[in-house]
Amino acid sequence: AQREMSSLSRVYVTRQIPPEGLKILKESGQVQFELWDSDDVPVPRKELLQKVKGVDGLLCVLTEKIDKELLDAAGPNLKVISTMSVGFDHLSLEELKNRGIRVGYTPEVLTDAVAELTVALLLTTSRRLIEATHEAKTGGWGTWRTLWLCGYELANSTVGIFGLGRIGVAIAERLAPFKVKKFIYTDVAPRPELAKQINAEYGEENHFIVAQFVIRLLSMDELTKRSDFLAMCCALTPETKEICNKNFFSKMKKTSIFINTSRGGVVNQDDLYEALSTGQIAGAGLDVTVPEPLPTSHPLFTLKNCVILPHIASASYTTRNAMSALAANNLLLGLRDEPMIKELQL
Ligand code: DGY
Repeated sequence: AQREMSSLSRVYVTRQIPPEGLKILKESGQVQFELWDSDDVPVPRKELLQKVKGVDGLLCVLTEKIDKELLDAAGPNLKVISTMSVGFDHLSLEELKNRGIRVGYTPEVLTDAVAELTVALLLTTSRRLIEATHEAKTGGWGTWRTLWLCGYELANSTVGIFGLGRIGVAIAERLAPFKVKKFIYTDVAPRPELAKQINAEYGEENHFIVAQFVIRLLSMDELTKRSDFLAMCCALTPETKEICNKNFFSKMKKTSIFINTSRGGVVNQDDLYEALSTGQIAGAGLDVTVPEPLPTSHPLFTLKNCVILPHIASASYTTRNAMSALAANNLLLGLRDEPMIKELQL
């Protein structure tokens, strides 16, 4: 038994992940793993730095910073990081690349859930649903009033998508039946290969064709000026950090709705507060903030026209289990030196 144990790869799992992933790890016969056995609090940094010592693989979630300090603490055995997330801004990619550590992540399996939630958040914000239920419950509901709780509708609107990747396209597909007039997007680079992956047509001048709509590529300037609804669907990178700032919001229409289900870091929150409180834009729906959790005393929570969710876009049972399973499989494949199902190209 001693010999058997030593041939197993040593793995640390930083969270009590959903059952499907744990089952895969347990039944693999390939790893010996230790787990931070809680889903309610993240593993304390100090504990994490100790637990990773000498491991071959690490399965983490987005609350763990995988940086130089952690990689140094882990030491030279570490060859695979598998994150149970599509986002990878918590990973120091440069450090990982330099050390030849491979990285697995979980795109695609969460696209439907995230797109669904984004539509829900958009409608909640534009039709003021949170304000409305609050009024109904707390006695604010007087007579039927002609302009009370009026919002903005999707019909005949222009929807702007910042970062037209898998999720952006999935959002467009879902919004198209709401009689949106125009879809526009901006992106850091043209991505014809993505169109192929998701069976969208890729037309002239980098336009995508989704659900019979041509999604036109515009500059960021034009996107902000023309969008009635603007959805952030990009990754957080040095290029997109706080790209939604004073300048960005100042170009948006006073009647426009801003939606962010990507990462809080793409927004300068002071500038967003300013834009919302001065009526520069009509409303914002955020699933992500900086920090997370956003302190309950944060000024954004005082605004009626700001809907804040606690980072739940991928939170469906099916999706979280699929993410867990994919993260487990990526890890096992990586440890066997095989191609992962979804591997980040560093
Ligand atoms: C991710 O996967 O990056 C999301 O933020 C959580 O699902």
